[in-house]
Amino acid sequence: MNIACDIATTRASATACANVALVKYFGKRCETYNLPAAGSLSVTLQPLRTTTQVAIDGQPGDDVVYLGDALASVPFTARVSRFLDLLRQEAGSTSRVVVTTSNNFPTAAGLASSASGFAALALAATHALRIPTTPQSLSAWARRGSGSAARSIPGGFVVWHAGSAPDGSDSFAESIAPPGHWDIALVIGIAATGPKADSSTLAMNRTRDTSPYYRAFIDSTAHWLAEAQQAVHARDIEKLGDIAEHSALAMHAATLAARPGILFFNPTTTAALHQVRQWRRDGIGAWFTCDAGPQPKVLCSAADAQEIAERLRQVPGIQDIITATPGDGATLSG
Ligand code: PMV
Repeated sequence: MNIACDIATTRASATACANVALVKYFGKRCETYNLPAAGSLSVTLQPLRTTTQVAIDGQPGDDVVYLGDALASVPFTARVSRFLDLLRQEAGSTSRVVVTTSNNFPTAAGLASSASGFAALALAATHALRIPTTPQSLSAWARRGSGSAARSIPGGFVVWHAGSAPDGSDSFAESIAPPGHWDIALVIGIAATGPKADSSTLAMNRTRDTSPYYRAFIDSTAHWLAEAQQAVHARDIEKLGDIAEHSALAMHAATLAARPGILFFNPTTTAALHQVRQWRRDGIGAWFTCDAGPQPKVLCSAADAQEIAERLRQVPGIQDIITATPGDGATLSG
């Protein structure tokens, strides 16, 4: 890990990439420690990146959070502060923290900005507060901010272990293969840029509490996680793509059957998913996934990414395309 920290002013800066899950996390077994009901598998995605600076000035008072060039909203700042409280408690600090963070992609629209955001914040803040970490404990700290952030600490192909310890000490993410292991791509269509209507936590909890399909989704995940890991090791894109589509559809089936049902797709998403299946019938290796937002994400080999990007751009309603490839884990930056 590349280390850069200004000792005199206790500043640290870190950067982390977003990730997309191919075996989905969707349900908590413990909200206090943000522990998942099942494991998940993801790919860390460059160039979707959050960069965060943290300054500890020794002053008491409220944390100050800048998102991009502007002061962040009250709910965003409160979420960051709740996470910083955990780290302050660990470090025995009472100082406020000034956080400056920016994403190079739309925030809170189902593109995992909370994953890259809390991963970068966990790395910068533990460093500035002098909290000793290992890659595993850093992933577990990031998990406390946002579950999927645990998976943005390691790079490449990543598994987040569900774990069984009540305090979550065995629920961290680790890389099962480095970014260079396999030339795949995720082609992401931007089907809407506004913030999503339902937060992931709200959607997960309502799904757990009211959806008759929630238990089936959780119970089947361990099997698909084991199969997906084999597919990654064997570089078997047909198998991984098939599992990714299944896991995404099973997750969305569970949310749709909650009461009231949660529908993350918009008409553009649905059109894109149908198109991906048509391209497959045409002989192109493309498989979709979709998270707690409307953006369709297409798994393909890196060699097919340009063709897929051109096709996805033609789907009515797609505003933009981002092509991502396996990226490095979180690092401290200058
Ligand atoms: O970002 P979180 O921790 O609130 O959870 C996001 C969950 C999904 O993106 C819908 C699925 C996943 O595994 O990333």
